[in-house]
Amino acid sequence: MKNIVLTGFMGTGKSAVGRELAGRLGMRLVEIDEEIEKAEGITISEIFSRYGEAYFRDRETEMVKRFSGERGVVISTGGGVVLREENMNALRGNGIIVCLTATIDTILGRTGRSGDRPLLNVGDLRKKIEELLEFRRPYYEKADIIIETDSRSPYEIAGEIIRKIDIIDSGCVRETRP
Ligand code: S3P
Repeated sequence: MKNIVLTGFMGTGKSAVGRELAGRLGMRLVEIDEEIEKAEGITISEIFSRYGEAYFRDRETEMVKRFSGERGVVISTGGGVVLREENMNALRGNGIIVCLTATIDTILGRTGRSGDRPLLNVGDLRKKIEELLEFRRPYYEKADIIIETDSRSPYEIAGEIIRKIDIIDSGCVRETRP
């Protein structure tokens, strides 16, 4: 059985949708960020401030490769996982890639200033989100399934993902692509 891989910018609801999907499909949920925190014994913010982003990205790639080898799990990734091709090749090997999207206003509302997202620890939060989104858009768009999440519950979003995966499995979606 294939894995379901949730990608998307910070605040698009990957964790909440991952929990919902895993519960409904009876699959195990793996949160890549949580696994990194467990392995390192400190939070993502602490990893960034002590060792820097490059160190975090290497740990992220290690975890991605470890869990890509599993079967039938829901994998919720951090928003920057799409940036490394080797991450996506590993995840694609046995997974359907789902990207969750949201408008900047929704992302702002969901991320707020909680301080647990080091990349968003900046003065002009809106500008930072715009810049990151602009740069990352082409990477997110490579997903097999793209789902808008604005004003929708994890229950509704999970339902749409399940329906779309059924269609992909029966070959219809792929056939309609050029
Ligand atoms: C990041 C997203 C975070 C976390 C880290 C970097 C990113 O995960 O991996 O702070 O580069 O977008 P969430 O998307 O779960 O917030």
